[in-house]
Amino acid sequence: MREITVGLLGCGNVGGGFWQLIIGARHHLAAHKNLSVDIRHILVRDVNRPRSVAVPRSHLTTDPWRILEDPEVDVVVEAMGGFEPARTYLLEALRRGKHVVTANKVVMARAWDELHEAAQASGACLFYEAAAGAVIPVIRSLPGLSAAPVRAVYGILNGTSNYILTRMAEGLSQADALAEAQRLGYAEPDPSDDLDGRDAAYKIALLAALAFDWSPDLDGIEMKGIRNVSTEDILAAQEAGFDLRHVARAERDESGQVKVSVAPVELPPGHPLYGIRGVENAVVIESDVFGAVTLKGAGAGPGPTATALLGDVCRVVDRLVWAEPSPAVSPAGAAADVAAGAAAAASAAARWRGESR
Ligand SMILES: NC(=O)c1ccc[n+]([C@@H]2O[C@H](COP(=O)([O-])OP(=O)(O)OC[C@H]3O[C@@H](n4cnc5c(N)ncnc54)[C@H](OP(=O)(O)O)[C@@H]3O)[C@@H](O)[C@H]2O)c1
Repeated sequence: MREITVGLLGCGNVGGGFWQLIIGARHHLAAHKNLSVDIRHILVRDVNRPRSVAVPRSHLTTDPWRILEDPEVDVVVEAMGGFEPARTYLLEALRRGKHVVTANKVVMARAWDELHEAAQASGACLFYEAAAGAVIPVIRSLPGLSAAPVRAVYGILNGTSNYILTRMAEGLSQADALAEAQRLGYAEPDPSDDLDGRDAAYKIALLAALAFDWSPDLDGIEMKGIRNVSTEDILAAQEAGFDLRHVARAERDESGQVKVSVAPVELPPGHPLYGIRGVENAVVIESDVFGAVTLKGAGAGPGPTATALLGDVCRVVDRLVWAEPSPAVSPAGAAADVAAGAAAAASAAARWRGESR
């Protein structure tokens, strides 16, 4: 049996869902993946907070160094959210040769280059399938599909605003639809990132980076949310045969420039995003070579997001078992830390190939 030791950052909706999935799926993981996942420590802000999942108190800590400095921790799974201190913890983990799996679109979009450089330097994996579209496997699909030139990537990437627009099309006001989304746990108490388009902007930035080798530039994204969309606008669009949806889009124009935007758009029947309702997400990848690929499914929620995280943990295991360790690329002057991280990643890979634990 292969064993992997995880340090989990965060035990809210997603981190709690990850814990539950690991406990609930342990027989499945053993039978189908020959894998045992040991969540050794869980970082939270407040160990005394009541939690919806039954996590042993002894696993909880408010000290990130218990995870970052534990040589037994192979993978850091991050489900904290936000930019700092997530960025610092992920960089520390990567520099120490720990593999990183994250659901955090903000840190990925805002520290894209820095995180990838740290991963490349130590040879550790950096996986983030859960950060855009949750269980929809778009992050892992894009590097393969973009082997052919991609013309555009676009989609409905924010389940909360799609839920609100869906309910408004049934006659609810935006305020009532938002209150309902909050009651059902789809919307945050502060829903501004959803309503103003920032959440979708972070996600499309990641997809644009993968499709077009674009270095995420959040200031360069044309951003329009749904805050100013009224029920009357939606009903009028519907009357004319259109679905009004919040669409995030990235495309390369004829001059080679990458244009990224998020905005409410009227979609005609037959459009691949027409009819996407409620909290569902969908993404379309278009190319002159292969046509269009559409992926859709649950873009949020503890189960779908935890599944994407676990899928990435399994990818780390596959890498450790099968791959040669990546060579350390040592930037001049930073050799010692980098070499230590690379050595840790290399020794983990060697351990794995021999399955000696
Ligand atoms: N919710 C979804 O459906 C979904 C879908 C895809 C991706 N995501 C992403 O997943 C991540 C987590 O989302 P969530 O909904 O699970 O958030 P959440 O319910 O607010 O949980 C956040 C967790 O992180 C801990 N935490 C936050 N800041 C911390 C800090 N500075 N130090 C230590 N612990 C800290 C919190 O500790 P306490 O419990 O002690 O407060 C909590 O356990 C975000 O990046 C989000 O964008 C979420």
